[in-house]
Amino acid sequence: MSVTKPLPHDAAKLHVTGAARYVDDIPTPRDCLHLAFGLAEIARGHISSKDLDTVRRSPDVIAVVEAKDLPFSNDVSASIHDEPMLSDGEIHYLGQPIFLVVARSHRAARIAARKAKITYQDTPPILTVDQALAANSRFEEGPRIWSSGDAETAISHAPHHVSACFEIGGQEHFYLEGQAALALPQEDGGFHIHSSTQHPTEIQHKVAEAIGLPMHSVRVETRRMGGGFGGKESQGNALAVACAVAARLTDHPCKMRYDRDDDMIITGKRHAFRITYEVGFDDTGRVQGLSFLHHVNCGWAQDLSLPVADRAMLHSDNAYHLPNIRIESHRLKTNLQSATAFRGFGGPQGMVGIERVMDHIAHHLDLDPVTVRQRNYYPAPSAAPVTTPYGMPVTDFELHGITEKLLIDADYKTRHAEIESWNASQTHLKRGLGFSPVKFGISFTLTHLNQAGALVHVYNDGSIHLNHGGTEMGQGLFQKVAQVAASRFGVSMDRVKITATDTAKVPNTSATAASSGSDLNGMAVMDACDQIRARMVAHLTSQPPCTGSDEVTFADNHVLIGDKRLSFAEAAKQCYEARVSLSATGFYKTPDLKWDRIKGQGRPFYYFAYGAALSEVVVDLRTGENRILRADLLHDAGSSLNPALDIGQVEGGYVQGAGWLTTEELVWDDKGHLRTHAPSTYKIPACSDAPDIFNVALWDQANPARTIYRSKAVGEPPFMLGISVYLALSDAVAQAGNAYPALNAPATPEELWSACQRLREV
Ligand code: MTE
Ligand code: MOS
Repeated sequence: MSVTKPLPHDAAKLHVTGAARYVDDIPTPRDCLHLAFGLAEIARGHISSKDLDTVRRSPDVIAVVEAKDLPFSNDVSASIHDEPMLSDGEIHYLGQPIFLVVARSHRAARIAARKAKITYQDTPPILTVDQALAANSRFEEGPRIWSSGDAETAISHAPHHVSACFEIGGQEHFYLEGQAALALPQEDGGFHIHSSTQHPTEIQHKVAEAIGLPMHSVRVETRRMGGGFGGKESQGNALAVACAVAARLTDHPCKMRYDRDDDMIITGKRHAFRITYEVGFDDTGRVQGLSFLHHVNCGWAQDLSLPVADRAMLHSDNAYHLPNIRIESHRLKTNLQSATAFRGFGGPQGMVGIERVMDHIAHHLDLDPVTVRQRNYYPAPSAAPVTTPYGMPVTDFELHGITEKLLIDADYKTRHAEIESWNASQTHLKRGLGFSPVKFGISFTLTHLNQAGALVHVYNDGSIHLNHGGTEMGQGLFQKVAQVAASRFGVSMDRVKITATDTAKVPNTSATAASSGSDLNGMAVMDACDQIRARMVAHLTSQPPCTGSDEVTFADNHVLIGDKRLSFAEAAKQCYEARVSLSATGFYKTPDLKWDRIKGQGRPFYYFAYGAALSEVVVDLRTGENRILRADLLHDAGSSLNPALDIGQVEGGYVQGAGWLTTEELVWDDKGHLRTHAPSTYKIPACSDAPDIFNVALWDQANPARTIYRSKAVGEPPFMLGISVYLALSDAVAQAGNAYPALNAPATPEELWSACQRLREV
């Protein structure tokens, strides 16, 4: 059977040879035009005058489009129509698109876009959490508050207390392929759009709104993205809509791609958080009461900020049973890029909060941080289940076993002792260890998104054509889903053709997000395959000498009916000739979900995915220079659909998570200008930053929830294993003084050095 095999990514060869086609590689018709946005140069205020004549006269410019020229909707928001594609006169952030240049080349469009003469009436921008609080600038009237038990009383009655406040920076998605779209006008006024998007239906919906036609007039196709990471859930809308609008105006195909700097200046990033906590605990480190305050910097538009901030609240418990907890979340509106989805969707920020709390408690009581965590863990599945703060019973808690195995595999006790004595022998270099577990909820918290469709054809030569609503962004979804189809029909992988996601084939899709791609689309594809299989079985068993009751198996490219053996191709041909339909649509919706996001109560997730990491770092306390020396990761992918791809997700997730908390620093100046808008100033981890010793293993246990072949979602959860690096750095820095270090993220060398200075002053 193809499922469970560590087969390579279906496009691996195309990726590494450069033959994989991304939107910008699609051959375009000769008369294709190219687009660029003209961007705001202030962060907040009004346009007082706008002279675009020099833009229009710039070489090879065909047209310049302003808000007033847009025929229908001027909105590219994924949520509440608060995101004009082109400024209507008001400026909300530095980098906001004001006008659109249509030119004969990409370069001509970009050159022209810089020639505008615009004057502004500017207002001091709101950039920081403090400025937003002072101005009471927010997306909801007040904070959202969820609580369980009585945190305040429990804290005040506890024998020990600690509290702290720290900042967690945002993160640029840094997909290797930037945002891109191509619109091809059709004979009837409709459009065929190629878009680098995680959400083709959303592109279809926004383009239809913008050109004033029903959704049936817009067909969106996505073969693959060169990375999305959440950054292509909503941020591709502007490019696709711009292309469609310009194509409608000029009757030419139009293409748009952001240059890297524009991409970083225009598009939203991970939400930055300020987290404040107060915790009361007993002598053993067991938490009695806990209160969290989240200040979320959402940027200028609502986008997906509310569900992101919710998911941070939902993961404030991470792996720990906390009967008395209160979480207060403020969603602040600022004049920055509109923060958006990013791998983990707020979960990572929530989790960093509680993981800092665990380490802080351990430091305060001088206990082993892993022991403190184990004492606070949810009970094992064999014990009576308890509920999360939002009222969901935790019945599948795997972390006791995962932690024990990881500590043994990573030789924790011995290394812990060795590191202690090594540190005692050193003055400036200090090593640190960080342990962090992950419990991540799987499902969209907006319940209706938990559905998927598929379209499967079996041709009469026995080859199979496969389509589903998910998109491929490098994670290997297409490969996994094709393995499901091959397994259902008992055929080898070369019989299954993977095709581009296409809104004309599978409608009303959800974004490929929330890690649910293979859970949802795998099931929908299985549903479609099994319908066809049932029809084939009904026909084949009705043919003499069969009696209708024969056992039928599909294996090894053959169909066995009783003792009759046909090749799969022959079986398909016989069914076709007997006029049996060999095509089916499949559908799946996740069962058992119920969620009230205002009260913060219910069952928002179908199940949890687990994992744990131990990282070892070394820091030079004089400079903050540091390295990850070793990482041991053990991650739960259920019964893995493809262990090679899943290990790739775990490795990549960990490194991206570590990058977020260590080197990836976003810096805006006090005018709201993003100063880190290229790889020259924004540092993502390189291959050379991966740990020298990097042990990655899967926890191979079937998912108790009825998922596709009992696998688990794996896209986002391992991202949070990177938190262990931040904790390890903090552990190393702690040796500069006697207190728990105040360390903000990202823990750049500069921040590590400053944290040492602060500790020495305590
Ligand atoms: N892996 C690669 N290589 N590229 C990506 O863009 N995106 C991540 C994760 N892994 C991403 C990735 C994010 S944010 C999500 S939600 C999941 O993949 C989406 O895919 P899945 O649901 O099929 O796991
Ligand atoms: Mo992933 S942030 O859910 O696209």
